[in-house]
This record gives sequence, C-alpha cells and structure tokens, in this order.
Amino acid sequence: MHRLSLLGPNGQALSVVTSGSGPALMLVHGFPLDHRMWDEQLAQLSKRFRVICPELRGFGASTLAEGASYRIGDLAEDLEFVGHSLAHDEPIALCGLSMGGYVAFEYWARHPERLSQLVLTSTRPGLDADAAKAGRRMMAEKALSAGTPAAVEGLDEKLLAAKSADHIRQKTLEMMRSVAPEAIVAAQTAMVHRAGFEERLSEIQVPTLVLTGEQDQLAPPGPSKEWAAMIPKARFQSLPDCGHLSPIEQPELFNQALVQFLDGSR
Ligand code: MLT
Repeated sequence: MHRLSLLGPNGQALSVVTSGSGPALMLVHGFPLDHRMWDEQLAQLSKRFRVICPELRGFGASTLAEGASYRIGDLAEDLEFVGHSLAHDEPIALCGLSMGGYVAFEYWARHPERLSQLVLTSTRPGLDADAAKAGRRMMAEKALSAGTPAAVEGLDEKLLAAKSADHIRQKTLEMMRSVAPEAIVAAQTAMVHRAGFEERLSEIQVPTLVLTGEQDQLAPPGPSKEWAAMIPKARFQSLPDCGHLSPIEQPELFNQALVQFLDGSR
C-alpha cells in the first residue's frame, strides 16, 4: 500500500492511497470519512485491480486552504487530476459512496469518455429537501461553535445498521471525529449546492452498478432501485445486513458484488 501526496490544481495537497496492479479502480469515500473506509477493498481488491483511493479536500491527509470553499464539480476535477497523474489515459472504473457518489455523477457529466464502469453506492441523484439543507447548515454551524465530535454526534446511528459490530462503529467514529470543523463546513456547503442528476439518468451510457445496503436509511433500496432503472445499462443490487457503509459493514459481500460487476461488464 502506498500513500502519495499530489499537489492539486489549486495548490492543495491531494492525498491518495493506492495498492495493487491491474485495471484502475478508483474508490471515493463518503462524508465525513476518509480512505480508511476502503481498508478491506485496498487489501482484497488490490489482488486484481490497481485500487486508487483519493481523499477529498479537507479529509484524511488532503488539505483545504483556510476559508476555502468548493463545489462538487471541483472535487470531480480533483479526481480527474488524480486519475491522469496515476492512470494516465487508461479508462477508470469509478466507485463513489454517498458524497463520493455525488462526485462520481459530476465526474460522469464532465468526463464520460474516461470511464470504463461506474458504481454508485449508497448515493442519490436527487437534490435535498429544504429540511435536509437546513440540517446541513446546522451541522456546519455546530462544527464551528462546538467542534466536530459534537457536530457528528449520533451520525453513526444513521450510517450504520443497528447491529453493526463495535469495532466497525469505533472505526467509523474515529474517522468522523478526526475531521476539521472547516472541512465539515466546506463539504456540507458543497452538498447543499450540488447539481441534481435525476433528469440525466437516461444519458448515462457507461455500464453502471447501483449498490445499496438493505438497511440504508439515507439511500434506501426502494428508491435506489427505481432510479437505477432509468440508467440504460445499470444493474441494481442491495446487500443484506448492512446500512449506508456496506464496504465497511459487509466487506466480503461488497467486494464480491463489485468484482462480479466489473468482470461481467468489461
Ligand atoms: C455520506 O455518507 O457521504 C453522506 O451521507 C452524504 C450526505 O450527507 O448526503
């Protein structure tokens, strides 16, 4: 496993963890997490793929300039920069979870020719309702006024299935609590302002897997299956006994689903 720090297009440090060799597979983490959510994928999938796990601005070891704000599209350009730096012109299988999925939609809209396959995990193409936007602003304010641990308190209950093992919960909490308040603010602001893709699903021509957890409260299987059906070459799958974070909660099932799809749609 290697950790690289690239100097990003805007002068920020972009941290990337990579492992293995073979076709490029880029995994983009959710909020408020970092590359550690892909530990089991880095360990197992690297036997077949060159696994590339970028850390989004302000998360993990990627930096966020003081007071800097960004849009989801800027993060998509960061992925393009990482992809070009590490995989050159090779097509990329891109998998984004939740916020990472919002970035993956943007990446598809900007660079469809770069993608061999697309995996949209526990994510949504639609925009937030007003109440959800207000919740994002409240979390951002709380992060600044009371610190990250207070701002993310209880979030693990939304992300994980109720019966998740203690070590999974501890690992998730550790990642969430280590994020700087400014990174929470910047990410929540970017998610409030993100573009919706519901109207563009039928334009996605790349083979796509829409994957969710059966107990995912934030991207439940019912609606996920419905929007997956609008993507011409999409397959839908939901994984048992997990919530929003299937790569951590059910790594073997997640990896199996991913490999089956990647092999079957090449
Ligand atoms: C995530 O896991 O990335 C978040 O649930 C995304 C969001 O807040 O919409």
